[in-house]
Amino acid sequence: MREQYSANPFVPGSGALPPCLAGRAAEQRELMRLHAYLRAGRGAPRNAVVSGPRGNGKTVLLRWFQREIEAGGGIDVVWRTPSDLPALDALATTLVPPARFRSLLPDKLSLSIGVGRLGWELGGDPGTLTELLTLRCAHRPLVILLDEAHTLDVAVGRALLNAAQSTASTAPFLLVLAGTPGLTRQLDRMSATFWNRAKHIGIGRLDEAAAAEALVRPFAEQNPAVTFDSPALRRVVDESQCYPYFLQVWGAALWEVAAERAAALIDDAVVAEAGRAFDVERVVCYEHRRDEVERQDLLPVAGAVADAFLGRAALAQDELNAVIGDALATDSTPETVACRDRLALVGYVWKPPGGGDRWQPGIPSLMQYLRSPTAARTGSAPAPAR
Ligand SMILES: Nc1ncnc2c1ncn2[C@@H]1O[C@H](COP(=O)(O)OP(=O)(O)OP(=O)(O)O)[C@@H](O)[C@H]1O
Ligand SMILES: [Mg+2]
Repeated sequence: MREQYSANPFVPGSGALPPCLAGRAAEQRELMRLHAYLRAGRGAPRNAVVSGPRGNGKTVLLRWFQREIEAGGGIDVVWRTPSDLPALDALATTLVPPARFRSLLPDKLSLSIGVGRLGWELGGDPGTLTELLTLRCAHRPLVILLDEAHTLDVAVGRALLNAAQSTASTAPFLLVLAGTPGLTRQLDRMSATFWNRAKHIGIGRLDEAAAAEALVRPFAEQNPAVTFDSPALRRVVDESQCYPYFLQVWGAALWEVAAERAAALIDDAVVAEAGRAFDVERVVCYEHRRDEVERQDLLPVAGAVADAFLGRAALAQDELNAVIGDALATDSTPETVACRDRLALVGYVWKPPGGGDRWQPGIPSLMQYLRSPTAARTGSAPAPAR
């Protein structure tokens, strides 16, 4: 019998949930623990900060959480990005839309109607944002999910973070921020107390078992008769470097080839053909990241950092600082740290929360790619012949 393949469930980079959200059980549990306080009508004891380099799954973890909250019912969940929040009045208007909450209005607040839109005028007073949020939460518990939070304006961020802490202390409220490793530094500038009290969730690469599951399960769910040949699976997991974005690209390519061949077994031949499509996407991804590094004027220092990581999984903070200082030809610690912060902002390097002072490469193999665009493949392991 020919195998039946329906629409490809792998949609890399689309913003949709992957067909199997693998290996995030601990992170999911942390978020559900905070959610439980709101279900009990209380504020979360800590707001949450989800950080990690690009393509590791911050957005999809937030999307999963949004879906869980909505499925549970009884709690409002609002999704925002910094572009929705250019200034304090816009922040208040988008989080507590006056059209819905005007009846809760404290007397002293005024409303403006500009270009056909109803908006709050806080008169520059962040304290009233807390009042508004508390009033909204008294009506119904509220979770705010703010993605790409590392790009949040510092003044707006400060108002939001302070309001989030005060609101959660008296009302059923939770704020979850997600962003690149540069978020840490941004939060420090916005509100040191928020940063210290928040629950930090680091999102890095998956372990090998989870990486395999992310590939195998979607095939098995749609086509129980399809199996993976073990060495072929091993090869795909190795080449993906357990990087979630690469896993989805692999999954999509394997599905296309397997569907075309009506394959019942994903073997070396399927992997070899799918690998050609994967390679194209991998290079596109690296070029995109390289341009991001270049735009920040970081290419020379990124090259020196790549050399220092050669054959090393992690560098101590002092070691990384020394490499950056040498590349910049400076003894100035602030200058060195500012440059390190910029590298973290683009996710070129990151320090996973709770991992001590160990810095890791953000995007796997991007460092090799910067050194030698044609040679970058699977981390330090030699690439299998194809
Ligand atoms: N746990 C996972 N299992 C399988 N696939 C995943 C997992 N997490 C993320 N992915 C996939 O990896 C890709 C990147 O995920 P996502 O866009 O959420 O990353 P991100 O960290 O938000 O990246 P960016 O910083 O660029 O916004 C997506 O295609 C997503 O489906
Ligand atoms: Mg994202």
